[in-house]
Amino acid sequence: MPSITGEVIPFYEVDVTNESKVNAIFSQHTIEGVIHFAGYKAVGESVEKPLMYYANNLMSTIAVMNACLKHNVKKFVFSSSATVYGDNAVPFKETMTLLPTTNPYGETKAMCERILTDTAKANPQLEVTLLRYFNPIGAHKSGLIGERPNGIPNNLMPYITQVASGEREYLQVFGNDYDTPDGTGVRDYIHVVDLAEGHVAAMKHSKPGAHAYNLGTGKGTSVLELVQTFERVNNIKVPYKIVDRRPGDLAECYADAKKAYEQLNWKTKYDVVQMCEDAWRYETAKQSVLISE
Ligand code: WQD
Repeated sequence: MPSITGEVIPFYEVDVTNESKVNAIFSQHTIEGVIHFAGYKAVGESVEKPLMYYANNLMSTIAVMNACLKHNVKKFVFSSSATVYGDNAVPFKETMTLLPTTNPYGETKAMCERILTDTAKANPQLEVTLLRYFNPIGAHKSGLIGERPNGIPNNLMPYITQVASGEREYLQVFGNDYDTPDGTGVRDYIHVVDLAEGHVAAMKHSKPGAHAYNLGTGKGTSVLELVQTFERVNNIKVPYKIVDRRPGDLAECYADAKKAYEQLNWKTKYDVVQMCEDAWRYETAKQSVLISE
């Protein structure tokens, strides 16, 4: 967004599973590196539509990597996910053996990591970085860009903000009988701006081979802790009801964040208080835009 970056960046609206269209873009620019974000990401939807997820997430990765090889682009940063760890013991560490994931979305991320790792082995000039996102939430402090999922939000924070704004009646808390301090699910929430900075660091510290890094804070926060922080910070109530667990959910998921700090010289700067403030600022700014439209 020029009002944030101060630059106008070329934008192409293209289906990145279409290799010829991707190549056409590569032919028009000298590209130093690629950050491949594109992919479907809703866990529940992936269970209902696995073929759509496997086709899109794998074919887009293969098409973009093929274009990189054809145009001699060495640096490739991939948007992976903590889901690839499966039901490992926390904190999740990059050296762990990955366990089966609990959904097709997670499987596509694990498969893409393997595809990219094998491709890096076969092409020694390639520098592949696999960024394992924990739970990105929040918004840019300007309130100009943030998270606005289509339809009913799958993820916790957009659901909280829509309950707080009155768009939804109450939050369903998926289970309070987990083996966690307050019984609700524990996650490693990372500010989306910290996540973005992690990509810049990954590009700066790119090196031959394929290397995985956790992008997380290293701290776990429960559902109720996040709700209570959001209420306190924004002085607003978020009504909720405890309901049954959501199938496929883990009790706990948080990062060992040391490797990214040691090798990418990157660590998170923002805490859940800032994430709650920024998420709410975006929601209220967006509401005022929606009302004025
Ligand atoms: C967080 C916690 C829920 C909604 C998924 C993907 C992951 C990443 C982030 C892409 C859990 C609870 C949620 C609600 C709730 N995706 N919850 N009520 O499932 O940890 O991770 O999204 O990068 O790869 O797996 O995130 O926000 O859906 O859930 O109680 O209405 O909130 O049970 O404990 P999740 P989430």
